[in-house]
Amino acid sequence: MGTQSSVLLFVTVTAIVLTYLRFRPRRKALEPPYPPGPTGKTMPTHDPWVQYRKWGEEFGKLAYVQSKNILIINDLQVAIDLLQTRAHIYSDRDTSFKHDLIGRDFILALQRYSTKWRRSRKVFQQSFREATISRFFPAQYRKTHLFLRRMITAPNDFMQHTMALSQGLIYSTLYGLDVEPDDYLGRKTGEIIHEYIDVILLDGAFPILDRFPWLRYMPSWFPGCNFKRITAQCLQRVRETNALPFDIAKSGVGTSLVAELAIQNEENQDEIDAIKVMGFSSTLAGADTTASSLASFLLAMVMHPDVQAKGQEEIDRVIGTDRLPTFEDRRSLPYVESIYREVMRLHPPFPLGISHVSIKDDFYGGYFIPKGCIVVPNLWAMNRDPDMYPEPDKFLPERFLNSPEGPFFSINKISAFGFGRRACVGRYMADNTVWLCIASTLAMLKVVKAKDDKGIEIPISGEYTHNFLRHPKPYQCSIVPRSLYAKELVLATAEFQ
Ligand code: HEM
Repeated sequence: MGTQSSVLLFVTVTAIVLTYLRFRPRRKALEPPYPPGPTGKTMPTHDPWVQYRKWGEEFGKLAYVQSKNILIINDLQVAIDLLQTRAHIYSDRDTSFKHDLIGRDFILALQRYSTKWRRSRKVFQQSFREATISRFFPAQYRKTHLFLRRMITAPNDFMQHTMALSQGLIYSTLYGLDVEPDDYLGRKTGEIIHEYIDVILLDGAFPILDRFPWLRYMPSWFPGCNFKRITAQCLQRVRETNALPFDIAKSGVGTSLVAELAIQNEENQDEIDAIKVMGFSSTLAGADTTASSLASFLLAMVMHPDVQAKGQEEIDRVIGTDRLPTFEDRRSLPYVESIYREVMRLHPPFPLGISHVSIKDDFYGGYFIPKGCIVVPNLWAMNRDPDMYPEPDKFLPERFLNSPEGPFFSINKISAFGFGRRACVGRYMADNTVWLCIASTLAMLKVVKAKDDKGIEIPISGEYTHNFLRHPKPYQCSIVPRSLYAKELVLATAEFQ
């Protein structure tokens, strides 16, 4: 028998077996039903959070896509009940083969709920927990002040500056390296995120693989197996970008968290692997997310000059105009805090979080949730729940200022950072970075709509990208120092770098 015939025979037998396994009856008649949900076989990939919210309105708090074993949660309390309270069941990640192909083991967010994940997460938490987070303050001031200087000297590149701040902070604190978005490492991590992960992580990214899972066993030349080429490119980038900064940091160029930990654990390969995962995962999970929040803040300020003016008034009144804000000022600035919370509410960088997966059968609200269920927290919809947030689509920081709890509630309640044991492990760092950048920008700069040659304001659509990691689409604005003194103050920070 020729090679092609053997392959065809193999495909046919595998397809029959897998089809049987997939559709065989599993449930007894008297057991609780699956949650209701859509019956279609394709998942939306363009702003899926919008369609998912519609499913929530149609089917209730749990919308279950049975053909794919995907549960969509649009309700905050359900997310807390399942992903937080029952974290022992719902802390695995998508077992999908595509994640193995792109290098799951290098990336904490994709790792299975396992001993390996626990080890990496522990290393991460020891350095990023609330009590130790002040170790990053000096770098956060340095990078934020550099950001302000760049906003004054090259205001048109403001989007680039948000990325340079977020990425530069991660590389400098973790590896002791000065990396700019245009540098080799900066570009490679950008490519991994935008060309691959941003696309691959969406459910339904490879519809043909979803329909014919047995294609995973086929060679890349087999019709429909283009996903193998895409994932192989991603894996190659992951391998290149994972090892390099670790090796440079360890070889002793500058001081850094990674170098410090690597020296302490030199003899323990498992710990060394966990440290590598921490470093690499931070470059992937920490830079674009933070940059997205900063870009959302700037966009909100251009579109809501009244909010910007109130934030500036609070800063001038509380800390004056002759210095830059510090972390010690935070609790005295409730309106600035409310602006930050409103940015995180309306524009979570991961609108669908990162899916959790259940490791055993479960029952909730009278429904059966089978083992292996992919649970998608629709953060975008939860944060627009009209019962919790009247006029949910409006940018209204006052909602936090005037709420009984006030704006300073625990950051663990900011749902943009996810839930339970898989909640964002870099959230304390991210929270400080975004807050400091917001407060410093309000204190020193004015962000307004740009004008054309005739002096007419250029309109802004306020649109966002449609991928897994959501950013404002490019827009024009004008950024100027609030006063001559503010300009001098900002430029003088260069002396302390
Ligand atoms: C504004 C900035 C950020 C936002 C909105 C954000 C949001 C998130 C979300 C929603 C998740 C998934 C949580 C879940 O599964 O329930 C996550 C996971 C993660 N984040 Fe962040 N993140 C941010 C910044 C950072 C930073 C600065 C770092 C690292 C320094 C980081 C590292 C990670 C890692 C490693 C995971 C995976 C955790 C795991 O699977 O155990 N993130 N983040």
